[in-house]
Amino acid sequence: GIQNESFIATKVSQYSCQRKTTLNNYNKKFTDAFEVMAENYEFKENEIFCLEFLRASSLLKSLPFSVTRMKDIQGLPCVGDQVRDLIEEIIEEGESSKVKEVLNDERYKAFKQFTSVFGVGVKTSEKWYRMGLRTVEEVKADKTLKLSKMQKAGFLYYEDLVSCVSKAEADAVSLIVKNTVCSFLPDALVTITGGFRRGKNIGHDIDFLITNPGPREDDELLHKVTDLWKKQGLLLYCDIIESTFVKEQLPSRQVDAMDHFQKCFAILKLYQPRVDNSTCTMSKKLGMAEVKDWKAIRVDLVITPFEQYPYALLGWTGSRQFGRDLRRYAAHERKMILDNHGLYDRRKRIFLKAGSEEEIFAHLGLDYVEPWERNA
Ligand code: CTP
Ligand code: MN
Ligand code: MN
Ligand code: MN
Repeated sequence: GIQNESFIATKVSQYSCQRKTTLNNYNKKFTDAFEVMAENYEFKENEIFCLEFLRASSLLKSLPFSVTRMKDIQGLPCVGDQVRDLIEEIIEEGESSKVKEVLNDERYKAFKQFTSVFGVGVKTSEKWYRMGLRTVEEVKADKTLKLSKMQKAGFLYYEDLVSCVSKAEADAVSLIVKNTVCSFLPDALVTITGGFRRGKNIGHDIDFLITNPGPREDDELLHKVTDLWKKQGLLLYCDIIESTFVKEQLPSRQVDAMDHFQKCFAILKLYQPRVDNSTCTMSKKLGMAEVKDWKAIRVDLVITPFEQYPYALLGWTGSRQFGRDLRRYAAHERKMILDNHGLYDRRKRIFLKAGSEEEIFAHLGLDYVEPWERNA
């Protein structure tokens, strides 16, 4: 209606960092379809088509109304022919035959299962698929496969890890992380990032950023923290990646490059108090199998130097698409290079310092976007 037309009249940016995207998605029917298409292209390693659908999904998530007619998407960016056809089909038929086809595709279904295992990406999935494997059970049963330490943990805790992390679980883990870190470094700043900082109430993991406002960093901190958890029997898996940061090195121009911070990909054992205590005592008395009173939770810990903290916070808060668009905007509209460590002005040939996320947006000439508006 009138509200749609007046909205379209104000130009929508092709960059999600110039839009507000809350979790209130009026176009889930379309964006779910786009995400299936994007994932299928990711499995086929077709990055261009994958990004096309991710950008379209992100754009429709930012619209303050539901798309019901083709007229609603008139003049919008990020809508190529493929995307337009899919929208048209969904408007007319209520669903898309193309998406249905993908969801029933043998290769898509197998890759979807394989990549749901911690430590398994597209490359490994491809290998397993070529060997004729199709399900997680088949991979588990194949004793000839050489699995990485990460993949072994992925299969061992599979059921727990595929079930999403709740906000309550994130809060409980947050307390553990804060207490442990502060027992070694009382002034350390521990911040939850990723989806939970964007206001999501579920996630596939919990992301933490750790920094010490003092003059020096402690590169032993992560080792101390994980050693203590190991002693306490709380650490189910841990892989510490040492820092590879080189000062004065220009930020990476690659849009999806990994950063250079010291970090740890871990699986923590979170004890969950049983709702009904008596069941537990009873089963013990009767000598029945012990009731499992914990859940395996994926946790990412990242340590950053204090002066890089705002850049790390912006990068790790995401969403992934929001971060991609920030870097693309910086490069194409400002001749700047942005990554999780800093912002480099190529014209002035200087690194721009920032004490907060607000200052980074200001350096880029962008209006500030709150974390809960970055769900692109
Ligand atoms: N990220 C990053 N560098 C990495 C890994 C992740 O900058 N090496 C960023 C991602 O781009 C993302 C954020 O950190 O924006 C969090 O990553 P992730 O946990 O994968 O995604 P979430 O948005 O938290 O969603 P989920 O609930 O699935 O965890
Ligand atoms: Mn996350
Ligand atoms: Mn994720
Ligand atoms: Mn993560």
